[in-house]
Amino acid sequence: MDENKGLGDEKYICRCEEVTEAEIRDAIRAGARSVVEIKRWTRAGMGICQGRSCRRLVERILAEELKLKPEEIEISSFRQPVRPVSIKAMDE
Ligand code: FES
Repeated sequence: MDENKGLGDEKYICRCEEVTEAEIRDAIRAGARSVVEIKRWTRAGMGICQGRSCRRLVERILAEELKLKPEEIEISSFRQPVRPVSIKAMDE
């Protein structure tokens, strides 16, 4: 069964920040032209995984909306996710 069937643009692309496909498409239609601009506009990619889960999907939507090939989309910078480390782990 297709989990996304019937959800249309309301499916979450960025689960960390709860940003839907519709919000991303709206940002592009309002003028966002890069993954960084979409990030600033919607917070997609600013969650705990730092875009690890959603970055490629955002790039694909951007390419679709701008009618570009995926390789024509400017690669966005991203930070590695930071995870808490215990003091004990640093002492070893
Ligand atoms: S899914 Fe978008 S930042 Fe984690």
